[in-house]
This record gives sequence, structure tokens and C-alpha cells, in this order.
Amino acid sequence: MNLEEIRKEREKWMTWKNIAPLREALDKLEDIECEYALGDVVKVHSKVPLSEEIRSSIEATAKKMMPWRKGPFELFDIFIDTEWQSFLKYNLLEPYCDLEGRRVADVGCNNGYYMFRMLSQDPASIVGFDPSALYKTQFDFINHFIKSEITYELLGVEHLPFYEQKFDTVFCLGVLYHRPDPVGTLKALAKGMEKGAELFLDTFMIDGDEDICLTPEKTYSKIPNIYFVPTVKALKNLVYTLPVLSI
Ligand SMILES: C[S@@+](CC[C@H](N)C(=O)[O-])C[C@H]1O[C@@H](n2cnc3c(N)ncnc32)[C@H](O)[C@@H]1O
Repeated sequence: MNLEEIRKEREKWMTWKNIAPLREALDKLEDIECEYALGDVVKVHSKVPLSEEIRSSIEATAKKMMPWRKGPFELFDIFIDTEWQSFLKYNLLEPYCDLEGRRVADVGCNNGYYMFRMLSQDPASIVGFDPSALYKTQFDFINHFIKSEITYELLGVEHLPFYEQKFDTVFCLGVLYHRPDPVGTLKALAKGMEKGAELFLDTFMIDGDEDICLTPEKTYSKIPNIYFVPTVKALKNLVYTLPVLSI
């Protein structure tokens, strides 16, 4: 698989008629010297007072990029509320993470909320994978001010086996149940991992001691495109079929 060709092809997504105006707005953003705070709300402050004109253009740009699914964020005094309060999930995981010096991947990273939170643990590198032009544009918007070295790839979990580097810690949160091929997805994750690497896997589950799973017809919990909802035992059985992974 030639990732460079796929990257080039997907770069063209930025010219789509719903995305191009957002990219133009991004290009026009002022370069502002900022500091940031990585709490439940990812906050960016300016080191210098902002003019009303600059503030309003940042607010208008944030509004153009709606809907914001993951967050929240605060840019200067502009609060970007989001559909999900993503700190609820992140704060459950954080006590189990030690990312210092590790090469981290966030597969299905959305607008990068978790990746920004991870910066506080000083990983060696962070790469986000998500094939969404809108979410990447939201990431680029926030990162314009934070200026992190996070890499955002418009690639999916299926590209992990071919990626140029392996990872020490992989997060795959809220993605598995959306994949029609859960075994292939787990295999792809495993192939993207260094030997002995750790995987944080978050997915819908059903209660029960049996090794069974649901395959909903149209929606699950009113959410479409849900293919696979296992018991923990069923998920463990699948994960254990992959030699690289252990729980
Ligand atoms: C339910 S959201 C989960 C977002 C975040 N990881 C979380 O847990 O809050 C699923 C994400 O997977 C992304 N996605 C869609 N197709 C994907 C693929 N092939 N590989 C990786 N991520 C994908 C979507 O764009 C979306 O951001």
C-alpha cells in the first residue's frame, strides 16, 4: 500500500466545497503568542491583549467549523462547547497512562482533544489517525494556537499495518463498534504496534459471562453503523487470537 499516494489523494479533500472556506479562514488567522492549560477544558490564552477584530474573527472561524463533537475547548474567552464532554472518558483512562517518552497513536482521534490532553505527559511523539477533513481542520485550528508537534494523518485504522513507524502506546477509543470487520481492525491495530506495546481499547459492551456479541440491525442506542457489541469475554477471546496483544 502506497501511503504517500493516499495522503496526496486525501489532501484534495481540503478543496471540497464545505471544507475549502474553512481552510481559507484558517490561513487568515493571526499568529498569536499563546500559552495553554490542559485540564478538562483545553484552554488557550494569549500572552498579549487581543483586539476585538481578531477575537471576533477567531469566534466566527470556530462557528464555521461546527459541529464540534469532542472537547470542550476555550480559545481566549471563547468557549467551544461540544456534543461530548470528552474529559469524562479521558479522566477515566489517564490514571492508567504513562506516556512519557513513548510513541503514541490515537486511532480515531477526531479533533485531537485527547491528543492535546496527552501533551501533559510528555510523550516522544503523538500521531492521530482519522479520515475526516472536518475534524482535521478543527485540529489544525486549535493547533494553530497551541503549536504542538502532533502529527494528524487523514488515514484510518486500516492503514496502520503500512505506517512508517510502530507505536509504543495505541489508543483506539470509540472506533471498534463502527467497524464492519472487528477482527481485521484488531489485527490492523496489532500490526501497528511495537512488540510489548500497550493498547487502550474502548468499545460498547453488553453485560454477561458468555462469549457472545450483538450485531444490531440498524441502530444501537439510536446510533447508526454499529456492527459489533460484545461481552467483555467475547472481546477478550478476539484480542487473545492476536499474538501481539495481551491484556
Ligand atoms: C465515535 S468517534 C470516537 C472519537 C474518539 N476516539 C472518542 O473516543 O471520543 C469515532 C471516530 O472514528 C473516526 N473514524 C472513522 N473511520 C475511521 C477509520 N477508518 N479509522 C480510524 N478512525 C475512523 C471518525 O471520524 C470519528 O472521529
